[in-house]
Amino acid sequence: MGFYAGPVSTAVVARAPGRVNLIGDHTDYTGGLALPFAIDREITVRGSWQDEPVLDLTSDQDPTPATIPVPVVDLSAIEPEWARRVAAIAGELELERGFAGTVTSTVPIGAGLSSSGALGVAMALALGAEADRSRLEIARLCQRAQQQATGVPAGILDEMASLHGVEDHAILLDCHDLTVEPVPLPADARLVVEYVSHRTVVGSPYSDRVAACRDAEAEIGPLRLARPEDVAAIYDPVLRARARHVVTENQRVLQCVEALRDGDLAEAGRLLTASHVSLRDDYEVSTPELDSAVGALLDTPGVYGARLTGAGFGGCVIALTRPDAITGGWEVRAVDGAGVLGR
Ligand code: GLA
Repeated sequence: MGFYAGPVSTAVVARAPGRVNLIGDHTDYTGGLALPFAIDREITVRGSWQDEPVLDLTSDQDPTPATIPVPVVDLSAIEPEWARRVAAIAGELELERGFAGTVTSTVPIGAGLSSSGALGVAMALALGAEADRSRLEIARLCQRAQQQATGVPAGILDEMASLHGVEDHAILLDCHDLTVEPVPLPADARLVVEYVSHRTVVGSPYSDRVAACRDAEAEIGPLRLARPEDVAAIYDPVLRARARHVVTENQRVLQCVEALRDGDLAEAGRLLTASHVSLRDDYEVSTPELDSAVGALLDTPGVYGARLTGAGFGGCVIALTRPDAITGGWEVRAVDGAGVLGR
């Protein structure tokens, strides 16, 4: 009698925001400091458990669905690329149950706003990561999964920002202790993001920069503890410049936190611009397009400062402006971190 209603399935909605890094780029993988915030653009995963041991997912960003048998055995065979990232999360979670759902995104893809970090976090939460893990453990799990799926030794900035966001605050992130401290964003600080060009960290010189930091550390010890005179003693001029960026960027993060706490937006803006110059000249991760976008912003009345944000090699720039400044791009708001809306 009646009809077979199938197994009892529990619906879940998990959301994870993208991020913008206000200042402190290419510091996370040497245990340095960064000041990101979670933005009002997010990835949402909706779905439910299913009996069949398969992850069946569709995405509004890619017409090719993901069909991932669990437990996951071989990541390299999984296509499309976003499905590999999802599979890596399932592998890290040692998932054995199937799940069917949809992925939707308001984070622009390939814009350096951490759409892939947000996908990993939203997926991990939808698949139950929060049941027995702290947010820090989830961030580390997602970072490992991201590294496995891409082969890029990315830091933990993106996942920490997505998981620890606080409305109207930036997050002072210490990537050595893995602590977070919310820093209020002054009400008269307007933050504008402008898209410049497509980029992915995969295939970029990101890994070379990570290796350069390792080499510099082999010479002078942890960069997070290095003093300017230690950096000056590095023999190779390129390694010296890379290390100089990291050491000065860590200082700028702390100075920027102080400026924000003092409500000194002119000083915070100056530090943002100094960060861009350091990323351009010492770390060499900017592009002519990013430089001219920053230049145009700095020529605009009411702009306190501007810089590339994230890994560089393309992506977006961020500007700190007066509320009445007339710029391109769009205003971003700092929002709360990722969460599960229903289960
Ligand atoms: C990418 C990485 C992060 C971080 C930034 C640069 O977004 O995923 O871990 O290294 O670049 O700050």
